[in-house]
Amino acid sequence: MEQLEQKILREGRVLSESVLKVDSFLNHQIDPQLMQQIGDEFASRFASDGITKVLTLESSGIAPATLAALRLGVPVIFARKKTSLTLANGLYTAEVYSYTKKETNTISVSKDYLSHDDRVLLIDDFLANGQAVLGLNEVINQAGASLAGAGVVIEKGFQDGGKLLREQGIRVESLAIISSLQNKTITFHREEVTV
Ligand code: G4P
Repeated sequence: MEQLEQKILREGRVLSESVLKVDSFLNHQIDPQLMQQIGDEFASRFASDGITKVLTLESSGIAPATLAALRLGVPVIFARKKTSLTLANGLYTAEVYSYTKKETNTISVSKDYLSHDDRVLLIDDFLANGQAVLGLNEVINQAGASLAGAGVVIEKGFQDGGKLLREQGIRVESLAIISSLQNKTITFHREEVTV
């Protein structure tokens, strides 16, 4: 997605060969106009998939997920990483290990909001090792719901998550795929165009 790639090139900061800082529009401050374009793009890619719920993981997934859900005309649920005082009972839960942060979170979603007749679009801000998507998919399986696919804002193509998910037959739609952050340079992976 051209506008997103331009924004990453203008405002992204390469912190190391594996970490990109995008605090100015995605992970801290949020650019609502760009989020709307991102939401519209996800909605159009999954327009004919009969989506009934959008599911994400707090916190940075919430903005793109909400804008996608707005365009699709369905509710958005964010899985929590910490147990909520009012959400103690009736939860679907899964363990998500973050290789980046070296920590495990137990994610949870109330049974009130996901059921066997739901068709779910997962949205996340980053795809690195794929563990968040796998954890959210486990929650979907526990609910007996079905997964339409995963929409990712920025995929780090040089890490294993995308391959792992696609090998499992999960449809992954990434709006920007970074192939390298070496030498402080952001390089995008572009699809080969065949005419
Ligand atoms: P995975 O789900 O694909 O396995 O990813 P991983 O555990 O490695 O990522 C853990 C957290 O780090 C996630 O945020 C993810 O968005 C973020 N992350 C991973 N790589 C990068 C990167 O290169 N740049 C930035 N900015 N973030 C990255 P989180 O803990 O869920 O944080 P938040 O959603 O509360 O902001």
